[in-house]
Amino acid sequence: MSTDKVFSELNKPQGKKMAASTLMSLLSEPIHTTGNKVTVVGVGQVGMACAFSILSQGVTSELVMVDCMADKLKGELMDMQHGSMFLKNAKIQAGTDYALTADSALCIITAGARQREGESRLSLVQKNTDIFKHIIPQLVQYSPNTILLVVSNPVDILTYIAWKISGLPKNRVFGSGTNLDSSRFRYLMSEMLGVAPSSCHGYIIGEHGDSSVPVWSGMNIAGVKLRDLNPLAGLPGDADNWQEVHKKVVQSAYEIIRLKGYTSWAIGLSISNLAQAILRNAASVHAVSTYVKGQHGIVDEVFLSLPSVLGLNGVTHIVKQPLTDLEKEQLNNSAKLMRSIIDNLIM
Ligand SMILES: NC(=O)c1ccc[n+]([C@@H]2O[C@H](COP(=O)([O-])OP(=O)(O)OC[C@H]3O[C@@H](n4cnc5c(N)ncnc54)[C@H](O)[C@@H]3O)[C@@H](O)[C@H]2O)c1
Repeated sequence: MSTDKVFSELNKPQGKKMAASTLMSLLSEPIHTTGNKVTVVGVGQVGMACAFSILSQGVTSELVMVDCMADKLKGELMDMQHGSMFLKNAKIQAGTDYALTADSALCIITAGARQREGESRLSLVQKNTDIFKHIIPQLVQYSPNTILLVVSNPVDILTYIAWKISGLPKNRVFGSGTNLDSSRFRYLMSEMLGVAPSSCHGYIIGEHGDSSVPVWSGMNIAGVKLRDLNPLAGLPGDADNWQEVHKKVVQSAYEIIRLKGYTSWAIGLSISNLAQAILRNAASVHAVSTYVKGQHGIVDEVFLSLPSVLGLNGVTHIVKQPLTDLEKEQLNNSAKLMRSIIDNLIM
């Protein structure tokens, strides 16, 4: 079919017919990178939930998926591409070759083993460290200015490993950390108080895992602290039994894995939220796993979650959250536990 036929009506300003070649000459050189390219490594349950949330929320106009399983990757790519008409015009690519990831603004790493029923996150550490040794250098080779967002577990240890292997500045490497735990906590808080999760404020900090620390002292709605109304909130003797809420947060992943085999939707949505904060330079605050040496008396070089400001440079600031002595002690215990695991790793 001649392009004249295709373009005739579209390009006919004031009765003057414009040839397709003239139309093309009006366009600038094709742009090869959008500046908001996102790579997701690992197309398992978590990687696909992240990719789907990011695409359906229009967070990026360019998404690349990488995995070592070529067929699974191709199937996921086709399935996702066939939904393109309902998405916001994003270019979607996938492959086992990291060259595809070149110039990614953000690389999200979800590859690796996941917990089995009853298994703790920490038991995955050596296996996933070995996988990271293969993945991280290739990501940095093709995107030397990227930001790495680690999701694979144990996320705090693997974020440290990713930072060490990558050679990137510490602000450009962070982990999803307790962003999900905080979201689980705010959901449960909303169920207790009958107020939307987005209006229930509360942070879980420290390890994304069994030693996470609920910041009872800061929990509030519209600045009204629950501790002012119930001084024992989260402590022994608390009539409202808030400690049970934290226990449920810690048990959530175990419970969901027991019931459906893996967790996916909430982590996918929470990662999409973090990706938006980065790519839109939002300067919004999220509990993510970051370099915490020097914070709240921590002396070890470890990554743990604290409320952090996210933007185009990654983690730009850590919020100096007032903590009680007990909360500081619990956070420091998390830090010591992380360090002892790192010290026993074969890197
Ligand atoms: N941080 C969080 O809050 C959070 C929440 C849920 C799950 N996770 C973690 O995310 C990770 C992924 O979980 P999942 O349920 O998607 O697991 P999954 O088994 O469904 O998928 C893992 C994927 O990683 C790929 N992979 C393995 N080695 C690779 C390599 N060398 N290169 C590229 N790809 C590789 C596999 O082929 C697979 O597709 C696990 O470590 C899990 O514990 C973290």
